[in-house]
Amino acid sequence: MSNVSKRADLIRPFVVMDVVARAKELEAAGRDIVRLEIGDPDFPTPGVITRAAEAAMEAGDTGYTQSLGLPDLRDAIAAHMRTAYGVTLDASSVIVTQGSSPAMLLLFGALLDPGDEVVMADPCYPAYPNYVSFLGGVPVPVSVRAEDGFRFRIDEVEAAITPRTKAIMLNSPCNPTGGVLAAEDLAALADLAERSGVWLASDEIYHGLQFEGRSHTVLEFTDRCFVLSGFSKAYAMTGWRLGYLIAPTEFVRPAEKIQQNFFLCANHFVQVAGTTALLHAQEEVARMREEYDERRRYLVPALRGIGLGVATEPLGAFYVFADARAWSGDSLALAGRLLEEAGVAVAPGIDFGPGGEGFLRFSYATSLDRLQEAIARLRVWADTR
Ligand SMILES: Cc1ncc(COP(=O)(O)O)c(C=O)c1O
Repeated sequence: MSNVSKRADLIRPFVVMDVVARAKELEAAGRDIVRLEIGDPDFPTPGVITRAAEAAMEAGDTGYTQSLGLPDLRDAIAAHMRTAYGVTLDASSVIVTQGSSPAMLLLFGALLDPGDEVVMADPCYPAYPNYVSFLGGVPVPVSVRAEDGFRFRIDEVEAAITPRTKAIMLNSPCNPTGGVLAAEDLAALADLAERSGVWLASDEIYHGLQFEGRSHTVLEFTDRCFVLSGFSKAYAMTGWRLGYLIAPTEFVRPAEKIQQNFFLCANHFVQVAGTTALLHAQEEVARMREEYDERRRYLVPALRGIGLGVATEPLGAFYVFADARAWSGDSLALAGRLLEEAGVAVAPGIDFGPGGEGFLRFSYATSLDRLQEAIARLRVWADTR
């Protein structure tokens, strides 16, 4: 009998990390691998942010902070919500975390009792079902489809709601699909949440990386919501570990207690740098977004040109979720073959749920040159396989 807890057993491995490990092995053996498997910006963190961190360290900002976060940063986040979305927010509803990942633990930890259900897209970011299961909740998948731009069909979300439903998880722009929920989707979901007495939990980590129109926060449509976000993607700060949760008043103290016990606080000087990021790095964010967009405009037709399906234009984040069933219905085996035989690392769609099977996720958080190299290799592979 296993000594490992049932809770840990429930966590599904993130297969793309095996792709990463194998890609690194091949690189160590001298192979050139085009790395399109992970969502880590290739841009360095903007200098204005790194300089702020250096200055903060020099100034001695190296101790603990308040568990809820530095007041300056919480104020800057509230101000950002106002300037970016026109949402008036009290800084007391902002909880600063070490990335948006711990914010998920705070959110679901404060919200879920055993057996509570959370409706989420299939495919989706794999941490969502894992967090929910780990905390005793039940993930309830609702299919999203390529032909809909991977947007929810609201009637299907409504049909998935039961008396046990506590929340609907949203993620726009979306990992892995690049899909974006339109303002009318968010309005309809907000209406559904209010009618059904459930909460919306909106992961807005890819805000700032939307290529048409502007991103809408769910807070524009309802207060019956939690917002998760952070600095990793738009500010190219994945390794800094800085994010936040915006929670309704009654959940702030419960989330704070979880934070106090499990994480204490986010890194002090990183919080100072995050404040600078919000106040002084918006031009750099826009510059990176333009470059991602240029890559996207190359990659989508290029993938179609080698026989992969991209039914609707991805509008945000830095992923294309391409239908690869013309090559194979087994995305894991296909990703393995592309890595070994073509030297191109991609994420298998099955990693993101059964609805992702047959798809491959291409991350364009890498240079245009390398994307062109990947397409050249895949074209040869497809012609000779
Ligand atoms: C949809 C989504 N949410 C959250 C995260 C985690 O981000 P963070 O670095 O803020 O923990 C990621 C990282 O890839 C992501 O894709």
